[in-house]
Amino acid sequence: MERVSAKRSAGMRGVVCRWWLLQLILWWRQTATASVYRVGGGAGWTNYVLRTNQLPDYTAWASSNQPFYVDDQFLFQYVPYFHSVHQFQNQSDFEHCDFSHATQLDDGHSGSFMWQAPEIGTFYLGCKTVVEGFGSHCKDGQKVAITVQKRV
Ligand SMILES: *[C@@H]1O[C@H](CO)[C@@H](O)[C@H](O)[C@H]1NC(C)=O
Repeated sequence: MERVSAKRSAGMRGVVCRWWLLQLILWWRQTATASVYRVGGGAGWTNYVLRTNQLPDYTAWASSNQPFYVDDQFLFQYVPYFHSVHQFQNQSDFEHCDFSHATQLDDGHSGSFMWQAPEIGTFYLGCKTVVEGFGSHCKDGQKVAITVQKRV
């Protein structure tokens, strides 16, 4: 009688153990597969790439780093106070660098901002900084469209 119940409880412990193991594997799979990207690579988030004396090309950066998935993280790093991270409502506002409906994601005071892709879709981000007499950082090319896919 004693033996039977001991056996049963050992079996129960095995089930609980396997359940936890499964949770651990699911958690590990999810966290291990999310990636962190530094937007712009070595150049970072800027309207002018000193090293190459060129305007940045974030379209090229995005296409050479994708595919991007939900929960991937994007680090925007730049000279504090010189730039910002804003999100446009749609592609049209993005193309025209129209910030009138954009949402500020980062004020630019720290020079570092991590954005995490919340869901599938295309997200349009840009820098709102305008320098009197020199035009806008967005029109210089400091904007990026990030297309986020469902992980397969
Ligand atoms: C883009 O979003 C803005 C702000 O909501 C809106 O005024 C405009 O009509 C939209 N354009 C398109 C092409 O959806």
